[in-house]
Amino acid sequence: MKRTVTTLCALVLMALCAVPLRSYAQVNGELWPDTKGKHINAHGGNIIKYKGTFYWYGENRPYRGFTTEAGVGVYSSKDLKIWKDEGIALAVSEQKGHDIERGCIMERPKVIYNRKTNKFIMLFHLELKGKGYEAARVAFAESDSPTGPFRYLRSTRIHAGRWPFNMTEQEIAYAKTTKANDWKDWWTPEWRQETERGMYLWRDFEGGQMSRDMTVYIDDDGKAYHITSSQENLTLLISELNDDYSDFTGKYVMVAPGGQNEAPTILKHNGTYWMICSGCTGWAPNEARMFHSKSIWGPWTQVASPFTGANATYKNFPASKTFGAQGTYILDTKSLGIKGTKSRFIFMADIWNPEHLSQSLHLWLPIEFGKDGKPVIKWTPNF
Ligand code: DGJ
Repeated sequence: MKRTVTTLCALVLMALCAVPLRSYAQVNGELWPDTKGKHINAHGGNIIKYKGTFYWYGENRPYRGFTTEAGVGVYSSKDLKIWKDEGIALAVSEQKGHDIERGCIMERPKVIYNRKTNKFIMLFHLELKGKGYEAARVAFAESDSPTGPFRYLRSTRIHAGRWPFNMTEQEIAYAKTTKANDWKDWWTPEWRQETERGMYLWRDFEGGQMSRDMTVYIDDDGKAYHITSSQENLTLLISELNDDYSDFTGKYVMVAPGGQNEAPTILKHNGTYWMICSGCTGWAPNEARMFHSKSIWGPWTQVASPFTGANATYKNFPASKTFGAQGTYILDTKSLGIKGTKSRFIFMADIWNPEHLSQSLHLWLPIEFGKDGKPVIKWTPNF
């Protein structure tokens, strides 16, 4: 009898586990099930459309721990709502000492499709196994198919031996006199001035600039740009990629030196580029920052955060904390041929759960434009 009851209980449990969490609904602040009912484990990523199907790439995170145990995951969908798990697009390596050895950290993967080469190119932030966040590299991988398998190409610090293209001879001469390694007190006006004048740029000039949180943006003319948090996460670098998106051309600029911006996201609306970033507080949410410019190369002007209004779901996470999230990508529904969304642009973000990173929630919010033409982001249950 006891045995029968135990077997029955086990059967009921198994049946319950097989029931989807909810029928594919995507409600901000809740788990988002895939077609098998499992929360979508794709964080810090982006979405592309290829031959009528959307592909969502992101960090496949373990339930416990902070390192990458599987790789970069990919999901597919026909409608941005029902997502099928397509597995691991770029897998970690089992080879000891390999750049992407299991236990490394792969963050913020972005995939772009190159029309000329018919290749899918993945760029991501890579930290080497056992080295915390000190490597600060960008890595490249490529694939002939959107679901992979992606082939790992290489990882690198960026722009070794190169100055930003807009620095004058005089500015370069000054930067060469700076001494970041000797600097004791951060956050003083003098420190900020030296940082703006390229103190960290010069420190890392020979070995290459750091690259951590990053995104990739393809402009209307097909040119692709890499935007990254560099110089100890103090300064953003915007860099041009070559025509096949497999490397940098060497042309780059610094943006907001000393501003401590992470998690860059970007859109272009009526000829103006808007960049929305976060501050730097680890996994904890902070107030977003916004910049605009008429050219990708700047000058970029900082304005107030676009987040406003109450958060009906998480009272603890108000607009001043980006509703508890950190941005990862801005979906341009028009360029992806998506109809019926509340607005052209959707801000994609992660509500991080550092206890269980795989369970971090997804937050997708429509971006409206105010009367003054600036982006405005309010909490809504769905996009
Ligand atoms: C904030 C970054 O945006 C994330 O991608 C991740 O690197 C965490 N910091 C780690 O603390």
